[in-house]
Amino acid sequence: MELAEQMTSMHPDVSHVIITEEQIRARVAELGAQISADYGDEPVLLVAVLRGAALFVADLSREISSPVELDFMAVSSYGSSTKSSGVVRIIKDLDETIEDMNVLVVEDILDTGLTLKYLLKNLASRKPRSLEVVTLLSKEGKQRVSIDCKYIGFDVPDEFVIGYGLDYAERYRNLPYIGVLKPEVYAD
Ligand code: IMP
Repeated sequence: MELAEQMTSMHPDVSHVIITEEQIRARVAELGAQISADYGDEPVLLVAVLRGAALFVADLSREISSPVELDFMAVSSYGSSTKSSGVVRIIKDLDETIEDMNVLVVEDILDTGLTLKYLLKNLASRKPRSLEVVTLLSKEGKQRVSIDCKYIGFDVPDEFVIGYGLDYAERYRNLPYIGVLKPEVYAD
């Protein structure tokens, strides 16, 4: 879909699109190629962080030629507010052990970094062979803790974004693009 066309079919709660469907597709393919080159024939376990990374991992996994396994974790995040609480809780743990495996954590967005910081510490204690992170989005200048993130899809401005897995109050995850929510939608 052309940008103009996508803009006309834009959801009424979205003020503007910052990353189009085509841009996402192209970047996910690049990330997949880079990951495939780095892991080669070594198996890689993709640990997707629910629920935001669900769409990203579905597309990314199909762009990786190395042997791929999938597992999922869910941690508490924003609820229906748009500010990070810093409180992280595991809601769903991995189904399998990760000892001696190449683990690649798949995240939707790196904001303050608090969620990933906690998750990486937790996963590292389970003694994987390697532990890396791929995030689709990273908010510029927002990280409160330093995270060693090997693969970043896009840097985005410090605005609340939705679409392609990212939600506001569980809505908008199915938008094919990344957009900025109109402030009046979340003004309480
Ligand atoms: P952090 O702990 O502040 O890095 O926040 C990480 C989590 O907060 C992400 O995995 C998202 O689920 C959520 N999040 C952060 N920023 C946004 C946003 O702009 N839109 C939607 N969700 C977000």
